[in-house]
Amino acid sequence: MRAVRVHDYGGPEVMRLEDVPRPEPGEGQALLRLAVSGVNFIDIYQRLGQYKTPLPFTAGNEGAGEVVAIGSGVSEVRVGDRVAYANIIGSYAEYALVPASRLVVLPEGVDYRLAAATMLQGMTAHYLSHSTYPLKPGDACLVHAAAGGVGQLLVQMAKHRGARVLATAGTEEKVALARALGADEAINYTKQDFVEAAKRFSDGTGLQVVYDSVGRDTFDRSLDCLAARGYMVLFGQASGPVPPISPQLLNAKGSLFLTRPTLGNYVASRQELVWRASTVLEWVTSGAVKVDIGAELPLAEAPEAHRRLAARQTTGKVLLAI
Ligand SMILES: NC(=O)c1ccc[n+]([C@@H]2O[C@H](COP(=O)([O-])OP(=O)(O)OC[C@H]3O[C@@H](n4cnc5c(N)ncnc54)[C@H](OP(=O)(O)O)[C@@H]3O)[C@@H](O)[C@H]2O)c1
Repeated sequence: MRAVRVHDYGGPEVMRLEDVPRPEPGEGQALLRLAVSGVNFIDIYQRLGQYKTPLPFTAGNEGAGEVVAIGSGVSEVRVGDRVAYANIIGSYAEYALVPASRLVVLPEGVDYRLAAATMLQGMTAHYLSHSTYPLKPGDACLVHAAAGGVGQLLVQMAKHRGARVLATAGTEEKVALARALGADEAINYTKQDFVEAAKRFSDGTGLQVVYDSVGRDTFDRSLDCLAARGYMVLFGQASGPVPPISPQLLNAKGSLFLTRPTLGNYVASRQELVWRASTVLEWVTSGAVKVDIGAELPLAEAPEAHRRLAARQTTGKVLLAI
């Protein structure tokens, strides 16, 4: 089968399309014939070696396709089921082995593209807005990189929970996208000071929560946007990792809470995974939450997909058609 393999950490060029043996499912595993793979920023961190991943590996952490074989002891899915998953490495490939307990059977009306566009970023937006800091009506929140994959979904979910949303993005087109998705205010943070915007947005009192996936470039100033006892939710590092800080800083900035969550801990049990995935898939099927597939490239063009994502040239979801 064809698979995009990484033998050394480095730039997009280290990803190579190779022929590798098709695997056989072991106990508790299902073999999927993938139709679509989702591209996510975590794929870039893994390729760069920022998130240590044993070499060599097949890139990609999200896919949708058909179950073509199962190992012993599998009860969650059957051969022929249409399924999707997130957070298991190896999805830039024609076939993937996935623990059956991590698969979600797709409801009628959800095609593979929509599923692969929704699973990882949708469940992330869901846990951030519903579990890490469960937004309440009237809360004021900041969503950075609001026109991105997670960002677009997070803006919409925050609005559904009744929060007021201040959004940031890197171009005027992206700012317009964030507004169209329901953000109460959106600014271009490469031109405007987002701390000032946050103060204005909250009548000087500060925000209840900042959802920051940009990391190094925004972290310090994001802390300055918060109200006393506000929540700093650092969930990514698109601009680079945040250097260590002293806990005393959280005291000085107003008894702040800081968390650095990751999806795996919010879909740890099968029950939580199925609840989050089915909720999000229902919303995207009904249109309550809109998914914007900003780019779709063939598997062989995985390096180009990474180049565009890393260069801030994408909006919404990036997919690889297999
Ligand atoms: N912790 C978790 O569970 C979890 C799960 C999923 C994703 N994430 C994180 O969420 C973030 C978004 O992921 P995504 O896959 O949806 O990507 P994305 O938001 O579609 O793309 C990243 C965006 O970050 C912004 N950005 C700002 N500075 C950047 C820089 N120096 N280099 C590159 N991008 C920069 C860009 O938007 P602008 O041009 O508008 O600034 C860019 O489009 C990532 O940090 C990812 O690691 C975390």
